[in-house]
Amino acid sequence: MPHRPKVIIGNWKMNKTIAETKSFVAGLALAAKESAFQIGLAVPFTMIDTAAKTAEGTVIRIGAQNVADRDEGPYTGEVSPKMIQDAGASFALIGHSERRRYFREDDAIVNRKIKGVLKIGVQPVCCIGETQEERQSGQAYSILKRQLLHGLDGLEKEDVASLIIAYEPVWAIGSHQVATPEIAQETHAFCRSVIKEKWGQQVADRLVIQYGGSVNPMNAAALLAEPDIDGLLIGNASLSLEAFTNIVLLHV
Ligand code: PGA
Repeated sequence: MPHRPKVIIGNWKMNKTIAETKSFVAGLALAAKESAFQIGLAVPFTMIDTAAKTAEGTVIRIGAQNVADRDEGPYTGEVSPKMIQDAGASFALIGHSERRRYFREDDAIVNRKIKGVLKIGVQPVCCIGETQEERQSGQAYSILKRQLLHGLDGLEKEDVASLIIAYEPVWAIGSHQVATPEIAQETHAFCRSVIKEKWGQQVADRLVIQYGGSVNPMNAAALLAEPDIDGLLIGNASLSLEAFTNIVLLHV
């Protein structure tokens, strides 16, 4: 059995202030010492600096929730890979379904963003997932395959092995309708097989694939116990220090 780390990442989305960030990260740092998992927090751009400084000397990694698909220049309102790194981000969520849906990000944009962060050593967390209709009409796997092959198009083996894939079914995000461990496991195994087919067994064995969508302290352990679920991407439950700490301290 290949050994992969289990990685828990909180995704705060558009929530919290700088003062709240400081006290949350300081509180989480205490739990992080006892955790068996790798821990990350994806915070809004304006909190990266504060979160990273508060997390200094701890195992908590700070990341961005998005990044520009260009390196620099006249792109008003955009934040580049170098800027998030400079502020203290060591990873970035890319292609979250809310970005795909509300900001019309497609696989080509996702691909440019992934290449842009990899170039400077920021780890991409590439989010993929099918909608309810796509699952019900039997298209889930073809959608996921397209998102994987187009999103990661042109990447070398080493790059693919070094990134994180987050499988987040759109129907499970913020819906209290978590995927069952069986459905999530089956889908993760499918995603790994797509990677294996294109980049080989070794890359597929090393690749971390997280599950995301309505994860909470009650359902997290059963998901983490599945062999192909290498961690969790957590939205709502990461806003509460108590809930997030309970997940981070689980024993699986
Ligand atoms: P949720 O969000 O845990 O609130 O469902 C997960 C995500 O969107 O990353």
